[in-house]
Amino acid sequence: MITDEHSMLDAYKSALPNSRILYEKASALFPNGVTHDLRYLEPFPVYIEKARGSRKWDVDGREYIDYWSGHGALLLGHCHDRVMKSVTGQLTLGTHFGACQIKEIEWAELVIDIIPSAEKVRFTSSGTEATLMAIRLSRIFTGKNKVLKFEGHFHGWHDQVVPGVNPPYEAPVPGTVRGAMSMTVLCPPNDIKAVEKILRDDDDIACVIIEPTGGGFGAIPTGGDFLKGLRKVATKNGVILIFDEVITGFRVAPGGAQEYFNVLPDLTALAKILAGGLPGGAVTGRKEIMELLEIRQDRDWKSNKKMMHTGTFNANPVSAAAGIETLKIVKSGEPCRKANELAVKLRKGMNGVIDSHGLNWCVYGEFSGFRYLLGHDQLLARAGDFNPYDYDYRKFKDPATVSLKHALRRGMLLNGVDTTANGGMTTAAHTNEDIGKTVDAFDRAITWMKRDGLV
Ligand SMILES: Cc1ncc(COP(=O)(O)O)c(C=O)c1O
Repeated sequence: MITDEHSMLDAYKSALPNSRILYEKASALFPNGVTHDLRYLEPFPVYIEKARGSRKWDVDGREYIDYWSGHGALLLGHCHDRVMKSVTGQLTLGTHFGACQIKEIEWAELVIDIIPSAEKVRFTSSGTEATLMAIRLSRIFTGKNKVLKFEGHFHGWHDQVVPGVNPPYEAPVPGTVRGAMSMTVLCPPNDIKAVEKILRDDDDIACVIIEPTGGGFGAIPTGGDFLKGLRKVATKNGVILIFDEVITGFRVAPGGAQEYFNVLPDLTALAKILAGGLPGGAVTGRKEIMELLEIRQDRDWKSNKKMMHTGTFNANPVSAAAGIETLKIVKSGEPCRKANELAVKLRKGMNGVIDSHGLNWCVYGEFSGFRYLLGHDQLLARAGDFNPYDYDYRKFKDPATVSLKHALRRGMLLNGVDTTANGGMTTAAHTNEDIGKTVDAFDRAITWMKRDGLV
């Protein structure tokens, strides 16, 4: 039994002994012992063994309410019965046919039915591949080279989109091909005049790519007015507008941010919920751009137009099985509505806790997201009054708060909740009871942090 006499760090070490042992092994195998940068946690991460609904259990048998939600891939929660039945049914038929297969058709039909701007689809294996494809298609279509992207926005980890994700935004990114930085033109978020100026001064821009609810799923939020302005400016300048809906697609509304804000991009990158918790991605959009993937015999097409595209796991039948069942359920709008509604309650409850502790923190976000800001310089009557649209975007994603965020995450884990270091996402599997327990856990974690002198 962990008591209040332990420091939180000591309590964490003794409460998760099996995770600690696994991490020692993992450290000899993986850089930093992890397989994804965000899964790194000091002094060691938690190792999860199984999950169901809104819960997951670690290798020490501890239960957690989960807000990682499969990095956003699980709007229906873990192991939804219908999704699991579809996946296990497919597993008995085969995992890879090296051939066209029936499920890819139903999967694409659902995408075209649900996503407003979708005319044709190409499946990929991940969101990174989807943004890579959308950008390359844009270059072929326009005959131009560069990408305009917004500071703080994340689109995966290929060369053209890694610049400007985290502060300092203009810093070069190690390992990208020399010159990559000059091919990506960074723009401050939510500044339509800056976009207009860049497009006026530089006639070599093929596309504008944006996370349509803002960088880091609204860590730096973006509103519908900006998207509408962007649509106009892109059309006026003959630039392709790409919505990266890898996280917002099927989440903020069934048809993603484009449905919610009623703004249609030329191309959309999808992944995560698309494949129902299994690996998968897609690009969809205007027919005449998507057709650049077609194989045609004329020489000009082959040498100047055709976008080469392969990928061993494109439209994998098991991912398709999970994706089809998930999209059929998501289509009703009910899972999005429920997850969004629970997140409102969660943000409100957590902000109440922050007020009761008198901290200059807040939990903000929109739709099913919640984001921690562990320190701000606003004079607010209540944490819930924080308006991220009025805040200097350069102060979000502050690296100075990383160890505090790790401490908070440890505190939450010790109290039966797994959020990311930055916040998390609700799902349709969460309940009001989960929200109440999470708010209590947040309260206890902060009390412990205060006692340890961390806040
Ligand atoms: C908005 C956005 N774009 C692209 C990606 C990259 O997707 P993947 O991790 O499937 O490569 C992510 C992943 O978190 C994302 O959130």
